Amino acid sequence: MSLTNLLNPLLKKASWMSSDDIQPYVFVRPENSIERPGSLHVTDWFQNKKPIFKNPLHLDELPFAEAVYQLEWKSFGDKGMAIPRWAFYDCAAMPGFVAGFAGRTKSLPKKIVEMLELAPGQEWCPLSLFIIIPTMHKGEWVAYDLCAINPILPREQQYYGLGFLTKAFALWYANVVQCSGMTQWGSPSLKLHSNYGHLEMIGSYAPLHTHAKTMTYRCQVDTNCWERFFTKEEDLAFLEKYGITDYIVDPSNENSMIEMQKRIQNNEGPFYLSASDISKNKLTDAFRVYQSKKEYT
Ligand SMILES: CC(C)(COP(=O)(O)OP(=O)(O)OC[C@H]1O[C@@H](n2cnc3c(N)ncnc32)[C@H](O)[C@@H]1OP(=O)(O)O)[C@@H](O)C(=O)NCCC(=O)NCCS
Repeated sequence: MSLTNLLNPLLKKASWMSSDDIQPYVFVRPENSIERPGSLHVTDWFQNKKPIFKNPLHLDELPFAEAVYQLEWKSFGDKGMAIPRWAFYDCAAMPGFVAGFAGRTKSLPKKIVEMLELAPGQEWCPLSLFIIIPTMHKGEWVAYDLCAINPILPREQQYYGLGFLTKAFALWYANVVQCSGMTQWGSPSLKLHSNYGHLEMIGSYAPLHTHAKTMTYRCQVDTNCWERFFTKEEDLAFLEKYGITDYIVDPSNENSMIEMQKRIQNNEGPFYLSASDISKNKLTDAFRVYQSKKEYT
């Protein structure tokens, strides 16, 4: 049977997933290896994939890591958030879990290999990156870096769903129960983050961060939500559980973030954002806020 036949039909827009020349990589020191990877969440999306293991503490892996840095810096440099080398080493490679997809170098467009300044002789070239670190709260991990090569490629060469499937792979592989994270209001990443489980907003304004207009979220990872990233279907379970409020957060209005933050601090929540709304919205549109029906009736 060909690998294409093994691909879940939902992933047909992400046809690159059927290629043997693109595989997930797991860039984790051996002591942090995941026990029984992929045993918590039920999905067949990655059944045809064989992860490539890389040890970030091994000098032989430096050329791959240098290309990961290039990808990260090109993704975040213009936002003033390029990861410093010490932060990647101290806060990702040592305590956490780093994963992504990599392409077999000889099968990739030369431009990608050049842009990422991959040293000659490397079998694999990174195409995406996701970092999560476990927290003291059992089952909860914090995600703090997601990037994919797509935005720096011409549209016709992009790998549809690369960013989304990078995070999905890591959550699945590492058996992540609850994923928290931070993202800037108006970032395209919210179109991805809202599809891994119902998205609770636990902070709407973060002056402690480099960018105060940062949203902090958490979700219980639920593979039932994942397919809507591709189908764009309404999430009826979300609408059954949560009702719309009169509150909004407007990415161009800092005050709306501060007002929402005060409501969260006042324990008026929990508050949620709808993946369906976000998928239909422009990045600059205001976010409608939802609340558990039982909390506000
Ligand atoms: C955000 C990011 C990870 C998304 O990854 P990607 O591989 O480009 O996106 P995917 O192919 O997985 O998803 C495509 C979907 O994302 C949305 N999307 C991605 N980029 C978008 C943009 N610039 N504007 C609007 N929507 C966008 C769209 O909804 C699109 O799906 P659709 O066309 O069916 O509606 C990637 O753009 C990136 O690395 N950006 C720079 C770094 C960054 O901002 N990271 C997020 C930090 S939290």
